[in-house]
Amino acid sequence: MKEQLNGIKIKAEQELAAVAGLKELEDLRVNYLGKKGELTSVLRGMGGLSAEERPIIGQLANEVRNLLEASIEQAKTELINKEREARLKAEVIDVTMPGKIQGMGRRHPLSMVLNQIKDVFIGLGYEIAEGPDVELDYYNFEALNIPKDHPARDVQDTFYIKDNILLRTQTSPVQIRVMENKKPPIKIICPGRVYRSDAVDATHSPIFHQVEGLVIDRGVTMGDLVGTLQLFAKSIFGEDTKIRLRPHHFPFTEPSAEVDISCWTCGGKGCRVCKNEGWIEILGAGMVHPKVLEACGIDSEVYSGFAFGLGVERVTMGKFYIDDLRLLFENDLRFLKQF
Ligand code: PHE
Repeated sequence: MKEQLNGIKIKAEQELAAVAGLKELEDLRVNYLGKKGELTSVLRGMGGLSAEERPIIGQLANEVRNLLEASIEQAKTELINKEREARLKAEVIDVTMPGKIQGMGRRHPLSMVLNQIKDVFIGLGYEIAEGPDVELDYYNFEALNIPKDHPARDVQDTFYIKDNILLRTQTSPVQIRVMENKKPPIKIICPGRVYRSDAVDATHSPIFHQVEGLVIDRGVTMGDLVGTLQLFAKSIFGEDTKIRLRPHHFPFTEPSAEVDISCWTCGGKGCRVCKNEGWIEILGAGMVHPKVLEACGIDSEVYSGFAFGLGVERVTMGKFYIDDLRLLFENDLRFLKQF
C-alpha cells in the first residue's frame, strides 16, 4: 500500500506539472481526491490493514492528500494569475497614442480643435499647466477675488462635494495654483474640463472644456493681450479674422473684456451664424487684478499680466458649423465619422 501511495503521489505530481487550464486542474482534483478518486479508493481499502500498519499508512495517506491539495491550490492560483496577466496585457490602453477613434482615421472634433489651440500657444512659448477638476472653493472663487456672497457666483453655480470642495466652474483656479508655485515670468495655458449646474440644451452642458491663458512678467500690457488674441484668432479661424474687445466685468481681471471675432461665415457682414451681428463672442479676458497677484505673493508694483479663458466647445462648434452642443458628447459615430 505504501508503494501504491507513493506511486499516486509521483503520478499526480507529473500530471499536475502538465496541467494547462483550470478545467483540466479540476478534472485532476476529481480523479485523485473525488469520491471515486484514486487516493480515496486507497483509503477505502485501509480496512484490510493490520492494527500496526493502519496508523502508518493512514499518516502517509494524509500526507499525500495534504500535499496534493496544497499543490492543486497553488497551481490554481498560478493559473488564475497567469490568466489575469494575459487579460491585462490585452486590455492595455496606450495613453500616449493620438486620440484616434476606432474605425476612423481622425480624431474627435474637440481634440482636433484643442490640439490646434495648444499648437498656437506652444509656438508662442507657452507651457501647459494642469489642475484638479475637484477644486477647493478657495482656488475656484476666493483667490480669484470672488468672495462667498459675490453675485459672480450665481452665474457659475456648480456641484458641491462639501461646503468648500466643488467641481471647478472654470480653469482660472489653475492660474492661482501656478502663481503660488512659480515666480514670474509665467506663460502658461491650462486646458481642462469644467462644470456648471446647467441643464442640457443645444448650447449648454454641465460639463464642457476651457483653455485658460496666463502671462505674468514685468511690463506686460493690454496691447500684448490684444496682439496675442489677434494672432490666436487668425491661426484658428483664418487670416482675415478680426477681433473686437467689449468692456466687461470679471472679478479677477481689471480691466476686463469679452472678446468677439468677426463671423467666420460672412466675414462680418451679418448672417444666420452670427445672428446678423457680424461678430461672435468666443472668450473672456483682462489684465490680472492686482489683488489676485498679491494673494499669490507676486508684487503687483513690479509685475503685471493678462489672462484669458475660452470655451473649446464654442470654438469647435464655430469651426465646424455644429449647431447643437450635445452632438459633441453623444459619441454617435454617424456624427463623429464626418471628421
Ligand atoms: N474664467 C472666466 C469664465 O469662465 C473667463 C476668463 C478667464 C476671464 C480669464 C478673464 C480671464 O467666464
